[in-house]
Amino acid sequence: PARTQSTADSTAAARPGSMLITGISELTTQDAEHRVLHGAAVLVEGDRIAWIGPAEQAPAAEAVHDLGGRAVLPGWVDSHTHLVFAGDRGAEFEARMAGEAYSAGGIGVTMETTRGADDAALAALVASRVQDAVDGGTTFLETKTGYGLSVEEEARHARIAAEAVDAVTFLGAHLVPPGADAAEYLDQVRGPMLEAVRPHVQWADVFCERGAFDAEASRRVLQDCAAAGLGLRVHGNQLGPGPGVRLAVELGAASVDHVNHLDDADVEALAGSWAGEGAGTVATCLPACDLSTRQPLAPARRLLDAGVEVALASNCNPGTSYTTSMSFCVSTAVLQMGLSLHEAVRAATVGGARALRVDDEVGSLEVGKRADLHVLDAPAAIHLAYRPGMPLTHAVWRAGRRAA
Ligand code: NIG
Repeated sequence: PARTQSTADSTAAARPGSMLITGISELTTQDAEHRVLHGAAVLVEGDRIAWIGPAEQAPAAEAVHDLGGRAVLPGWVDSHTHLVFAGDRGAEFEARMAGEAYSAGGIGVTMETTRGADDAALAALVASRVQDAVDGGTTFLETKTGYGLSVEEEARHARIAAEAVDAVTFLGAHLVPPGADAAEYLDQVRGPMLEAVRPHVQWADVFCERGAFDAEASRRVLQDCAAAGLGLRVHGNQLGPGPGVRLAVELGAASVDHVNHLDDADVEALAGSWAGEGAGTVATCLPACDLSTRQPLAPARRLLDAGVEVALASNCNPGTSYTTSMSFCVSTAVLQMGLSLHEAVRAATVGGARALRVDDEVGSLEVGKRADLHVLDAPAAIHLAYRPGMPLTHAVWRAGRRAA
């Protein structure tokens, strides 16, 4: 195990509460120069990174934490999850593995079980999923509503989510609940539901897909949410070709997620969104979901080659991706999607941070950024793909505090 001790150098002034992390075999910064440092140390003061440099030049600190020769990465930024749910759909998954196609209708099943869980039970389920994520190296987490699908339930789920994660997304437009009138439900989402969730959420999302919401309904929901001050994200092109990607780009969404079925125009639209000055629309790939639904893996390699910013996220939910393991997503991106280890780690850190527009704060290890560190029980980050499925998370600091 790593050791904590007082620093030997008591002559220089050490800031109260400062901690120097040493014994780092490889430091993947994901900074603008893509630096991977060997023999580096990191000084943490409060919740910030205060210094990074050669260990032998390190400033004094109140405490020294020696990692004993382990690799350090930025904490994962998981920009797409649906953690507010009760029950599971293991039988649906088993039927799928036997040849059934995925159908969004399962969302209605989870809606029923989740409505049946009281606040304390639901909050405990969310908290345990958040802890699983942190234990696997995640230090910044987004989650969505979308299993409430009524004004009261969506507001309840948004409130519970806001107490547990860093960013919350309103996904009232996940599915028209079973038995409801589509036009009436859409009016609810755009009116009283949006108003009820508004105090708890920063983002809005729609499931723009055949069988869920078409382009026109999606556009109306997103425009109303933008007018209410929410940032935009879209579930698009998951189960087949469709308008989701181009709608996301047209409306300036921060991210379009899934992106399994893309044509040339979709890729060009995404690339075009990154051609100008500001940030464009991130293409968020969800490899655990792709495997669980037997969809073609999202074309992350093609998107990167076209100049699109790509994120990797877990999409933890009971229907299509019951995992919070970002390390699994990174391994899969390297082993199956043609990304280098460095590209995959970037997508799971900086990419997610850009998809949530928090890359000035988290996603890379740089002076002034939040001290979110993921320590591997391995000498180099390539072990994530080289030893897939192994429990490689050794320690996690979130905002300068030990979280796992
Ligand atoms: O991101 N695609 C829509 N929503 C979820 C699945 C929800 C479910 O099946 O419960 C997703 O995959």
